Amino acid sequence: MTVTVRAAAKINLHLGVGPVRADGFHPLATVYQAVGLYDDVLVADAEEWVVTVTGEAHVALAEVPQDGSNIAIRAGRALAAHHSIDRAARIEIHKGIPVAGGLAGGSADAAATLLALDRLWSLGTTDEDLLRIAGELGSDVPFALLGGAAAGHGRGELVEPLEDHGAWWWVVVGNAVGLSTPAVYRHFDELTPAATDPVIPDSLVEALRNGDLELLAASVGNDLQEPALDLRADLRRTFADGAEAGALATLLSGSGPTVLLLCRDAAHAREIAGAMQAAGHEHCWAVPAPVAGAHVVSYD
Ligand code: C5P
Repeated sequence: MTVTVRAAAKINLHLGVGPVRADGFHPLATVYQAVGLYDDVLVADAEEWVVTVTGEAHVALAEVPQDGSNIAIRAGRALAAHHSIDRAARIEIHKGIPVAGGLAGGSADAAATLLALDRLWSLGTTDEDLLRIAGELGSDVPFALLGGAAAGHGRGELVEPLEDHGAWWWVVVGNAVGLSTPAVYRHFDELTPAATDPVIPDSLVEALRNGDLELLAASVGNDLQEPALDLRADLRRTFADGAEAGALATLLSGSGPTVLLLCRDAAHAREIAGAMQAAGHEHCWAVPAPVAGAHVVSYD
């Protein structure tokens, strides 16, 4: 018996960052949106915890740990511990989400593993418990369970669904060289010694509720963008190329280095993806949003 769960990449339409907390994390006021790039996670019973990782050609598989430090195994162990059961599983991850891209691919794998094992073992874990276990694994894991669009507070793990009536299209521009999330947050601290408590702009919430493309374009923003660009000057060209190609807004995804280009519709997204590829950005995807959170795709 196997269960396969699909989980989507996330982007942050707004990423407001406050002053570093005593525990080393930063208070966030963020708006998450799930976009159409996916990892699939298959689970089956096994004697010992084991993970295998495969992926699409663009995924830097060498950067994904294949031992107990993989976040999917940590998720499986946390779920078993929560239910006080002594079981283990084989976890097969197939990645379509770029690694270390600011798209929360590892968080998607953790969320997918939680849901898949809950189903495989018929545990009936409540949504509240799943979200709490998810939040202990990583700041972005609860949102990967939810999908759609959501507000995120705390260090990102406290999520509240938002109404999103848009049929949005993004071009996601990947980068061959990853960027370390802790390094970007550290550089934010250096550049922003007087950071204030972050808030979510009302205009962004309204743009999502009304599916208002122009208002969305005017309302997106990311406090990690300047620190990331300061560490990675090459990204400035990606932003310039995106603007030149006609994107309605350009935005860094999370802590980067992935860059997001807001498009009018599917045809516009395909056109912009083509222009970006012609400008030398090899890995571009035209993707819809919002899409579903972690969900079962097969029982075999
Ligand atoms: O929670 P997660 O494991 O995704 O966080 C990875 C790293 O990103 C943390 O160790 C921390 O350095 C940084 N981070 C942060 N503030 C947040 C979320 C993440 O400083 N709200």
